[in-house]
Amino acid sequence: MFQRVCKDDTIFEGGMRLVIADSHVIILAWPLGGEIRAFQGVCPHTNYPLEEAEFDGEVLTCPLHAWTWNLHTGDPVQPQESALAQYPVKVEDGVVYIDTEGVTPLLAPR
Ligand code: FES
Repeated sequence: MFQRVCKDDTIFEGGMRLVIADSHVIILAWPLGGEIRAFQGVCPHTNYPLEEAEFDGEVLTCPLHAWTWNLHTGDPVQPQESALAQYPVKVEDGVVYIDTEGVTPLLAPR
């Protein structure tokens, strides 16, 4: 079920922010020339939060060991690294909604 996470004027093209939906920490990103997308907000390498990750409008870089992902797709830039799980997202009447059902973030073993 889609849940309201924020207004669409709190994110701009080329930017990203962190939101929470149903206890999932989620990166909400709007890649340049693309659409608003939602990905797991913790790094699959060591489960480090991606809140302070750098986003250049296309590529997200983890601040800890510099794993990188293309946020048009969530795919890793380096194929040997892990992808980010992606959540369905929709924007209606100025509000962003995310559906967490059935999405399992890829996490490092504890
Ligand atoms: S914790 Fe993100 S790259 Fe290592």
